[in-house]
Amino acid sequence: MFRTIEWLDDNTVRFVDQTKLPLVTEHITTSSYERIAEAIRIMEVRGAPAIGAAAGMGMALAALENEAHAKNQLVEFLEQAAITLNTRPTAVNLTWATKRMLDVAKETEGNADQVTQRLIEEAKEIAEEDVRMCRAIGENALSLIKPGFAIQTICNAGSLATVHLGTVGAVIRIAHQEYGGSIKVYAAETRPRQQGARLTVFEFMADNIDTTLITDGMIGTVFKEGRVDCCVVGSDRIFRTGHITNKIGTYTMAIAARYHNIPFYAAAPISTIDWETNPKDVVIEERNPDEIRMINGEYITVPDAKVYNPAFDTTPPELITAIITDRGIVEHPNEEKMLKLKDQ
Ligand code: MRU
Repeated sequence: MFRTIEWLDDNTVRFVDQTKLPLVTEHITTSSYERIAEAIRIMEVRGAPAIGAAAGMGMALAALENEAHAKNQLVEFLEQAAITLNTRPTAVNLTWATKRMLDVAKETEGNADQVTQRLIEEAKEIAEEDVRMCRAIGENALSLIKPGFAIQTICNAGSLATVHLGTVGAVIRIAHQEYGGSIKVYAAETRPRQQGARLTVFEFMADNIDTTLITDGMIGTVFKEGRVDCCVVGSDRIFRTGHITNKIGTYTMAIAARYHNIPFYAAAPISTIDWETNPKDVVIEERNPDEIRMINGEYITVPDAKVYNPAFDTTPPELITAIITDRGIVEHPNEEKMLKLKDQ
């Protein structure tokens, strides 16, 4: 797979437009942080680590766009840019990346130009770190994934949801490589934005991984028929309690997995852990009702049908067999075990 988003030598950012995949592979190049904010908002770039990397690069573009020479004016400009870039509330990676860039700006000595150069390096480092963390997640997961496993996933936590490789993507790709190409994937379609159908199927098929598309409502049946050995899902926010917030439908999958004694794993980098927030206080993004009322621009229901469209849900730790991170695996997560991971 190509890189989802990258910083180019001419100080522009290039990303693949995920709203057009899989039928059209089109890249967008921009030097505007506001265009990056828009890309995150309309989901041209989506997936928690990818929007974190995009926000980091957006902050570096903002620094280049700033015209003031004094560092304190640059920092003020960046504070506003961070607000503009935080267009989706649920994934922790957005605020994590903008805060990291702001902290670097504040700590770096020098004038605006010198701070800007440092911010460009930091944005590139966030992206490279993401690739390294994904690889480590995949390597750590090898102790849980066995040759020939069929893995159920939801949404897209593959390469496209990160800079490269993916979180779930790394778990699957590295096991597939290690076990002679024997891993199979069941991808849930993921209504309403169909990230499973559009993106997960696309990228695993591109890597010759045996992938079967199902609708979200088929998950229980697939489990009952014994087609799946484990579930591996991504996360938009993991809490110190071991709760995970991920794409809507994850919670229902975890309940069905428990009923059928199927291990349920969440895979995410350490940057997805929110050590502060209480899971009940997470802001779940509610998206446009037309995402549910329409398919491909056509109404499939009464045009003013009442709709509820939360984009994410939260799964409690008692339904999670293990959280797989780049720092290691937390089996049967709870607060004590999560805090040990923090201190590692
Ligand atoms: O609304 P999206 O497509 O941004 O949601 C993405 C997910 O829910 C992913 O599972 C999550 O961000 C983890 S990506 C490695």
